[in-house]
Amino acid sequence: MPTTTPADAIALLKADHRKVEALFEQFEKAKDIAGKRKLAQEICTELTVHATIEEEIFYPACKEAVEDDLEHEAYVEHDGAKVLIAEIAQGNPEDEFYGAKVMVLSEMIKHHVKEEEKPGEGFFAQARKGDVDMETLGGTLQARKAQLLAAIRQGGLPPPETRSFTGHKLKQGHVVEAAG
Ligand SMILES: [Fe+2]
Repeated sequence: MPTTTPADAIALLKADHRKVEALFEQFEKAKDIAGKRKLAQEICTELTVHATIEEEIFYPACKEAVEDDLEHEAYVEHDGAKVLIAEIAQGNPEDEFYGAKVMVLSEMIKHHVKEEEKPGEGFFAQARKGDVDMETLGGTLQARKAQLLAAIRQGGLPPPETRSFTGHKLKQGHVVEAAG
């Protein structure tokens, strides 16, 4: 199958969504540890690059066209996903909560996809109504994506950068065992 590069920004971001959905499906079916680890790392890489190009380029370009509430929620949802991405990237498929973390991340991404792709009122639909040249923007996204992927291939996945979460301190606890 020939690989075509979508020039349109929204087509490119939708293609990212489809790719990561397929990876989550493969993860669910994967039986061995090595396969799970490889798929989870790929999911973390894809999502990190996707969130970065949306936050650095796509969201700012569409800011005027999209409702503030929807835009703010997108940042907070991304930051929530980044916490799980960081956990998974540094975890191991044999860890107790590893599979659950991947599944919860998958649910979060399903929600993200719905918020962006919802016909008529989603982020993409609102962005389309604005005065944004999606073809040019698509080229910019594609170029940044290639740059980020090359950097990850060389230096590994960087720690996620939050843009809406600030100064959070979490205390490490443990699951409470049943009494008795
Ligand atoms: Fe997205």
